[in-house]
Amino acid sequence: ENSKESTIILFGATGDLAVRKLYPALYQLYKKQNDVERFAVIGLGRRKYDHDTYRNMVKNSVKTDDASIDDFLSRFFFYSLDVDNIEGYVGLGALADKVDTDFNLSGNRIFYLALAPNFFGTVTNNLKDSGLTNTKGWKRLVIEKPFGHNLSSAKVLNEQIRSAFAEEEIYRIDHYLGKEMVQNIQVIRFANPLFESIWNNRYISNIQITSSETLGVGERAGYYDRSGALMDMVQNHMLQMVALTAMEPPSRLETEDIRDEKVKVLRSIRPVTSESVKDDIIRAQYTSGVLADGQTVRSYLDEENIDSQSQTETFVGAKLYIDNFRWAGVPFYIRTGKRMGVKSTQIVIQFKDAPLNPYLDQQPNLLVIHVQPDEGLSLKLNAKKIGESQETMPIHLDFCHNCTNDLGTSDAYERLIHDCIRGDSTNFTRWDEVALSWTYVDSIAQAWKDGYGPLEYYESGTMGPKSVDDLLAKNGFHWWPIT
Ligand code: BG6
Repeated sequence: ENSKESTIILFGATGDLAVRKLYPALYQLYKKQNDVERFAVIGLGRRKYDHDTYRNMVKNSVKTDDASIDDFLSRFFFYSLDVDNIEGYVGLGALADKVDTDFNLSGNRIFYLALAPNFFGTVTNNLKDSGLTNTKGWKRLVIEKPFGHNLSSAKVLNEQIRSAFAEEEIYRIDHYLGKEMVQNIQVIRFANPLFESIWNNRYISNIQITSSETLGVGERAGYYDRSGALMDMVQNHMLQMVALTAMEPPSRLETEDIRDEKVKVLRSIRPVTSESVKDDIIRAQYTSGVLADGQTVRSYLDEENIDSQSQTETFVGAKLYIDNFRWAGVPFYIRTGKRMGVKSTQIVIQFKDAPLNPYLDQQPNLLVIHVQPDEGLSLKLNAKKIGESQETMPIHLDFCHNCTNDLGTSDAYERLIHDCIRGDSTNFTRWDEVALSWTYVDSIAQAWKDGYGPLEYYESGTMGPKSVDDLLAKNGFHWWPIT
């Protein structure tokens, strides 16, 4: 199970994800050869590419002049497949065997489904029926989101893939779990007694998690208009960040121990009611506006292929509680949306004020985990104003892991593919995490359907509707600016 050589059988090889993220990530891994050992890729698509056309496409996606590119490309093969047609899989099997022998890959196979989820069932069935999954080495299945559009569709999907792969063989991607600073959350927490001892409701007043984007819906109208921000971002990335911020220390740093702790958090999220959705969960859609760079952008309803009556939310703001000993009474605020003022993901931990405050101008202590675009950590403290005054002034202790990194996402893919090759599924979501996230999200979607919590609007280029500020103000808090 530990051998790392493998054939990566990639469905959706000419698709957007493969071109933008996967090939560059594979190339980066390839350059660190000793990590990935050997690999070869069989790209699948409906097009009738030959190997050279495919290799050219990969080359353009990787964008490098490095001489190593030729050897890298020689590991790529293309096979034209209609995923519905079982016959095609037989030829694929023959090619996979040949590639496996030629490159000495021990029969290990990664099936990477960079495809729309409605194909998952057919593909996994055909992989099994054609004998492709019956390999002498290990096999793994990588799938992309969306994993269903509610709990019941996710269950169907899960049953389909489980008929060909065991849970331990399934790697469900949530690319946020591949981000450096998301992985860092547990280290910051559990390797620093300084923080861990105050990481609870006695010392923390509230937690604010933002993931804002400046991009609009782009060319993904078909998918996005049916999902909206709740399913697109909250069900996966936002709840995963909540779980990592709130989980108990795992007894060991083993995959299942960590996942068990995350599941406990998801299970402890206070269930919503229609009333609490109305009060605590905000959904909104962008109108036209001006972005920070001066660009004027149109409203969501004016976007290409969006129904002019669409009620889809492009923003969600929410307050949630985790009903356990550690977090009782501490609000977790989350907000995420498209066409907001900045592109940023950050987690702010706001600590409670001192029991007795002799300094009137004291500000709360904050720990900010910067996930992107900057990756780092900052701690906001109070110090004495230099000089003779008795006043305080805020100071920051900053650690910038990589201040100029704007390649967050492809880095994430690099890490996740690497993990999959090594057989480490810690940073992938287990089925029960997915199911619990859907349970939470479904009940919000249902309340909205029942008319609780109207759709609001926010101007493009802002941080969301005013009500998302009121949400915090009700508890005496405010959003800390994105820094
Ligand atoms: C994806 C969503 O999962 O995450 C997109 O489908 C969103 O709508 C993207 O733009 C954001 O990812 P990142 O890494 O740019 O924050």
